[in-house]
Amino acid sequence: MKIGILGSGSVAQTLAAGFVSRGHDVMLGTRDAKKLAQWQADTGAKASVGSFADAAAYGEVIVLATLGTATLDVIGQIGAAAFAGKTVMDATNPLSHDGGELSLTLGFSDSLGEQIQRAIPDAHVVKVYNSVGAPLMVDPKLPGGPPDMFIAGNDAQAKQRVTTIVEAFGWGVVDAGGIEAARLLEPLCILWVDYGVRTGTWNHAFKLLRG
Ligand SMILES: NC(=O)c1ccc[n+]([C@@H]2O[C@H](COP(=O)([O-])OP(=O)(O)OC[C@H]3O[C@@H](n4cnc5c(N)ncnc54)[C@H](OP(=O)(O)O)[C@@H]3O)[C@@H](O)[C@H]2O)c1
Repeated sequence: MKIGILGSGSVAQTLAAGFVSRGHDVMLGTRDAKKLAQWQADTGAKASVGSFADAAAYGEVIVLATLGTATLDVIGQIGAAAFAGKTVMDATNPLSHDGGELSLTLGFSDSLGEQIQRAIPDAHVVKVYNSVGAPLMVDPKLPGGPPDMFIAGNDAQAKQRVTTIVEAFGWGVVDAGGIEAARLLEPLCILWVDYGVRTGTWNHAFKLLRG
């Protein structure tokens, strides 16, 4: 499958490595392709680099891995048509560091996941991978076994496709509901980071124990 990843940071590169290791072809989208030349050379023939618009057009599945507060601008520049009918994996968080404190720029009655879905109404947005640090996203090795990834989205087929990908990356999956459940998942990012800051450890992830 062709995966278009919008982003060049640690999330984009970690997920790209995961997709390539499972036999997929990946294009990373960035404003500055030159800085990814070494990444492309290291990753090999299954990797390519383009603009954000190039990566969106390339992907049968698109991953959003841009700075949260820039994501709607990036989508606006690309145009909604490039996303129509596609599964869009949204790993972004609407984070603010104002005053040195990590917080969300919105919540309770809206979420970035919903804003993204509204911006690309013909795409199938699935919130995923926003509630764990990048190093654990693919093949997490934790003493308690595979962690669970909470996902949210409106389209059952898109959620099944994302579930297949995330399970192949070594996770269990918990369907948290429609895209409005992104209101619940985006704050989990803050909980994950806050636990890391307080304990000084970053090797943790969430798991839902079911009776
Ligand atoms: N880091 C983590 O462990 C982690 C975990 C879970 C979720 N997330 C979320 O995943 C997303 C990616 O995180 P990250 O840490 O990999 O990278 P990041 O530093 O949050 O974002 C890097 C990406 O955002 C783009 N970007 C930044 N400012 C921009 C602007 N003004 N206009 C357009 N694009 C802009 C960059 O574009 P260029 O390529 O052009 O520089 C780059 O591709 C974020 O929303 C973050 O909250 C991160």
